[in-house]
Order: sequence, then structure tokens, then C-alpha cells
Amino acid sequence: MKHFDIAVIPGDGIGKEVVPPSLNVLNTIAELHGGLKFSFTEFPWSCEYYLEHGEMMPESGLETLKNFNAIFLGAVGNPEMVPDHISLWGLLIKIRRAFEQTINIRPAKYFKGLRSPLVNPKDFDLLVVRENSEGEYSEVGGRIHSGQDETAIQNAVFTRKGTERAMRYAFDLAKQRKNHVTSATKSNGIVHSMPFWDEVFRDVQKDYSDIGTASYHIDALAAAFVTKPEIFDVIVASNLFGDILTDIGGAIMGSIGIAPAANLNVNGKYPSMFEPVHGSAPDIVGKNIANPIGQIWTAKMMLDHFGEAELGQRLIDVIEEVTEDQYKTPDIGGKSTTNVVADEICSRLLKSEALSK
Ligand code: NAD
Ligand code: IPM
Ligand code: MN
Repeated sequence: MKHFDIAVIPGDGIGKEVVPPSLNVLNTIAELHGGLKFSFTEFPWSCEYYLEHGEMMPESGLETLKNFNAIFLGAVGNPEMVPDHISLWGLLIKIRRAFEQTINIRPAKYFKGLRSPLVNPKDFDLLVVRENSEGEYSEVGGRIHSGQDETAIQNAVFTRKGTERAMRYAFDLAKQRKNHVTSATKSNGIVHSMPFWDEVFRDVQKDYSDIGTASYHIDALAAAFVTKPEIFDVIVASNLFGDILTDIGGAIMGSIGIAPAANLNVNGKYPSMFEPVHGSAPDIVGKNIANPIGQIWTAKMMLDHFGEAELGQRLIDVIEEVTEDQYKTPDIGGKSTTNVVADEICSRLLKSEALSK
């Protein structure tokens, strides 16, 4: 029996609505498999927790999380109650950094049964490798001269180690895919870090002579994601560029509510964390209409991480089948609730039992 201990942080807003049905899906998967068991330990860390305790998680939080095989997170943020930079840096980003989750992978693909907002979408299937620990998201800087001359300085940090690590990860993934890596740069306007980024890309490229490459400025790349996403395979991007590109990736699939993500610890020292691309969606909270697919697809990425890629593929196939059969939340043009979609995924998984054994 393979046993995985998973820390569950539903977080805020729709995180609390999409996580529980996704755990049902994972339990169903375990049932299907027969030799797999998940234990879930839930933590209430969130903006509500912050209002009560003055911190997003207890001081011992990281120590507690360290012992799990993975972290399964919903979404963090309730900007009406707690400023975003406090809530996110107190929980999500804190975990990413402390647990050296330096790589964030985020796929987007043409999905059967979904209406892409693109007029004539081709069959795209891309994967963004987002540098997840430095770049534009840095704590270096500060504010001086409050009042009229107030000044804010935010320094981006690009290390050769971090940049190269993300690029090598992208090239290695491309080997298992369509052998192509696109670099997201902006070396025409950002005069220090981005020419450096290009230089490291050229250096890394030399070790992967079989992999085709391209380099796009991020503005043109964002446009190309909309006009011709089918030309991309793996895209490697800095922290902020990758963040923005992957919301576009979600949008061209049909909704950001579908897009999954994995924050990977690649040195084996700490657990990785699985959370969808979307946030807490305060505008739709409490209505049971949040699309659970992003969170469920994120569970598939966790299965892949645990070496259960076959089960993961079965799950994606079932998700596609269910959307094709019109079990859809309103964001993708349907009328189903969060739970109806997730329940349908569970029941079809169970029906597929004969196939998987
Ligand atoms: P958001 O992703 O929460 O919402 C953007 C839009 O997409 C909204 O209209 C929302 O209704 C819709 N949407 C998102 N997920 C959906 C789903 N599953 N089903 C249907 N529709 C969905 O982004 P935002 O509004 O910029 O941020 C809201 C809060 O979430 C903020 O506090 C923000 O900082 C936080 N946030 C957290 C994460 C995270 O925890 N990983 C990611 C992004 C934003
Ligand atoms: C994401 C989110 C986070 C990020 C925010 C909430 C800090 O947008 O995971 O995409 O920018 O990394
Ligand atoms: Mn984002």
C-alpha cells in the first residue's frame, strides 16, 4: 500500500469551496487504484485565521508542514479584510520560499468540450515553467520620505543559479514533449536583468542541442498566446512574466477556473505544493458556482508528482468527458454547481474502474 500524507490548506474564498470536492476526487482515485491511500490533515490558515490570531499561520506552521508528502492548497486572499501583500507573503509565498519551491509548472491546453474565447482555436498544448523564487518578486527595496517626496524602490533579483535552474528544468521537460523551449524576455526595455536572462538562456541551450528554441519579448509573447498558442511547447519565464502568461493560458482554455499549477521543490528537502492558478474569487464566493476543475487538475499534477501518471491521465480524460457532456459551471458557459461537476467526475471515475485495473 502506498500512503501519502497530505497537508490541506483550503485558504480563503472559493478555495474553501473547490478543495473539499477535490479531496473526494482524490479519495475516489485511491479507491480505484486499490493500493493507494491518502491521509488529509486540514489547516485553517487563511485571512480569517489572521484576523483572529494576527498571523496567517502559526510560527510552528512551516515546521508542521515539513513532514508532509505534499501540500494541497486552495487560494489565499481576502483583500477587503487583509491587504494582499500581508496575506500572500504570510502564507502562500512564505511556503514557496521556505520550502525552496523554485519551479512552478503551469500547463494550458485546448480542452475538448470547452469553449475557448479564441475564434478559431487550434489544438494547443503548452507548459509554462515559471521561476518561482526570485526575479521581480523580491523583498529587496523599501520606502523612504513619507509625504510628498515619498519614494518606493523594488529591486528585481536574478541569480545565475535560479535562472539557470528554471531554464534547465524547461529544457528537460521539453525532451519529454515536443522538443522546443521559448524564452520570455524583455531585453529591449529592461537593461540589466533581461540581457542577463538571454545570456543564461544561450549558455543553457548549448547543452541541449536537440531542442529547438525561440526567444520572444514578453509583450509579443502575450499577444502570441492569444493569436497562435499552438506554436508553443515549453515556455520559460521569470516569476512575474510567468504569472501573467499563465492567467492568459487559463483564459484561452476557456476560464482561469480550469488552470492548474505545481510549486515544485526540486532538491528533495521539502514538500512540493499544489494549488490552482486562480485566486479566491471574492466576486463569486458563496454561490457554489466556482469551477472545481482547476483544483482537480492540480490534484492530477500531484498524482504525477507521486509517480501515478497513469491515474492522472485517466483523471484528465474523465474531466474532458464530463465537460464535453455539458457538466459545466457558469464561467465556461454551463449551469452546473461546483459539487455537481466534481460528483460527476467521481462517479465516472468509478465507472471506469474496469479500464484502470
Ligand atoms: P481570481 O483568480 O481570484 O479571480 C479572477 C476572476 O476569475 C474573477 O472574476 C473570478 O470570479 C474568476 N475565477 C477565478 N477562479 C474561478 C473559478 N474556479 N471558477 C470560476 N471563476 C473563477 O483573481 P483576483 O480577483 O485578482 O484575486 C482575488 C484574490 O485572490 C486576491 O486576494 C488575490 O491576491 C488572490 N489570489 C490568490 C492566488 C493564490 O492563492 N494562488 C492566486 C491569484 C490571486
Ligand atoms: C499566482 C498568484 C500569486 C503570484 C499571488 C497571489 C501572489 O497570482 O500564484 O499566480 O503572483 O504568484
Ligand atoms: Mn497569478
